[in-house]
Amino acid sequence: MNRSFFFTPFSPVVILFMATFFLLAEKASCTDPQFLACEPKSCGAQNISFPFHIQTAQQEFCGYPGFAISCNGKNKAVFNLSNNEYIIQEIDDQNHSLRLSNAAGFGKNTSCSPQIQNISLNDDRFRLSTTRTGVLFYNCNSTLLENDSKLLNHKVDCSGENGNVSTVAMLDDDALLGSASEKCEAGVVAPVDVYTGENVSIGKMLERGFVLNWVASNCSECDESGGRCGFNYTTYQFKCFCPDRPHARSCKSGEYFFSS
Ligand SMILES: *[C@@H]1O[C@H](CO)[C@@H](O)[C@H](O)[C@H]1NC(C)=O
Ligand SMILES: *[C@@H]1O[C@H](CO)[C@@H](O)[C@H](O)[C@H]1NC(C)=O
Ligand SMILES: *[C@@H]1O[C@H](CO)[C@@H](O)[C@H](O)[C@H]1NC(C)=O
Ligand SMILES: *[C@@H]1O[C@H](CO)[C@@H](O)[C@H](O)[C@H]1NC(C)=O
Ligand SMILES: *[C@@H]1O[C@H](CO)[C@@H](O)[C@H](O)[C@H]1NC(C)=O
Ligand SMILES: *[C@@H]1O[C@H](CO)[C@@H](O)[C@H](O)[C@H]1NC(C)=O
Ligand SMILES: *[C@@H]1O[C@H](CO)[C@@H](O)[C@H](O)[C@H]1NC(C)=O
Ligand SMILES: *[C@@H]1O[C@H](CO)[C@@H](O)[C@H](O)[C@H]1NC(C)=O
Ligand SMILES: *[C@@H]1O[C@H](CO)[C@@H](O)[C@H](O)[C@H]1NC(C)=O
Ligand SMILES: *[C@@H]1O[C@H](CO)[C@@H](O)[C@H](O)[C@H]1NC(C)=O
Ligand SMILES: *[C@@H]1O[C@H](CO)[C@@H](O)[C@H](O)[C@H]1NC(C)=O
Repeated sequence: MNRSFFFTPFSPVVILFMATFFLLAEKASCTDPQFLACEPKSCGAQNISFPFHIQTAQQEFCGYPGFAISCNGKNKAVFNLSNNEYIIQEIDDQNHSLRLSNAAGFGKNTSCSPQIQNISLNDDRFRLSTTRTGVLFYNCNSTLLENDSKLLNHKVDCSGENGNVSTVAMLDDDALLGSASEKCEAGVVAPVDVYTGENVSIGKMLERGFVLNWVASNCSECDESGGRCGFNYTTYQFKCFCPDRPHARSCKSGEYFFSS
């Protein structure tokens, strides 16, 4: 056989070599745009990644449906749930849980309005991990409250309330529930965590917030393979965005033949 055949410009060896070279070069230079777009972002001290995405800072496909959050002016991650705004205190990716507290806030320097609404979890993506319920009573008649020293102990400090009305809070099994509902407007329920052996006020409990578990695709496998989790809204499917291209679950599965 003629040796020079293999080294002419159109020999199979040269074409194969060139094809491989160009494919590898293209692979190296074109990192998948969705992988790049879904770089984790932070809001204050909070790192935000799948299933959450910051509405104004990240593409929708970087998150899971129903997990859009916003980053407020105070650099706090805000999550909307049944018409309430909650501050995300903590995200636990391992356990698929997050701790939320009402954005309306409590304490001396916060006004208790916008008023907290009843929480209703008709969304099957979220489940309350917290088991206790606190009740907040707004617009309690201060004149009637003055005479009730027990109820007065449950007063929550809210700035900006006029002297005629106050806010009180208690657990949902408190003996004063009936007395409060006589002196106040309808109560609003809010989940709280109560730990055995601790002695904290209901106000502090409300401030501390509560834990929700979420149901969304598990990102661990994709994350550990070097990918970034996302979602295709057209096919309505989980995607693992990898440097080369989107994969179904992990960057390690379904790789091209010539990738290592
Ligand atoms: C957020 O991510 C950065 C970089 O990955 C890391 O250094 C930092 O510790 C993370 N912060 C939290 C609160 O997890
Ligand atoms: C949450 O609700 C507020 C107002 O009710 C709105 O401005 C904000 O965009 C919502 N955020 C998200 C992530 O839906
Ligand atoms: C996850 O949940 C388990 C059991 O509920 C708990 O022991 C563990 O501390 C949690 N992990 C983190 C990081 O909070
Ligand atoms: C997600 O998957 C990882 C392993 O792939 C597992 O360790 C972890 O417990 C899973 N998390 C949840 C909330 O199911
Ligand atoms: C209290 O609130 C006012 C106005 O909302 C703010 O200017 C001030 O810094 C706050 N003080 C504290 C101690 O948070
Ligand atoms: C509070 O109760 C007193 C006595 O019943 C009543 O006179 C007063 O108008 C009430 N105040 C408000 C703000 O409802
Ligand atoms: C509060 O108690 C005092 C003394 O017991 C009584 O004179 C007054 O009428 C009470 N006020 C209200 C609003 O019940
Ligand atoms: C409290 O109620 C009285 C009578 O109902 C009213 O005259 C007064 O303006 C109210 N005070 C405030 C701060 O709203
Ligand atoms: C909140 O829910 C409680 C019962 O769960 C109900 O009695 C109350 O009227 C509700 N409050 C509002 C403002 O919807
Ligand atoms: C709880 O703390 C309050 C003051 O913060 C105190 O008066 C009360 O005795 C404490 N109760 C218990 C059971 O320790
Ligand atoms: C979603 O999948 C469709 C069909 O495979 C594809 O055409 C589209 O580019 C994908 N979109 C995203 C945002 O991944």
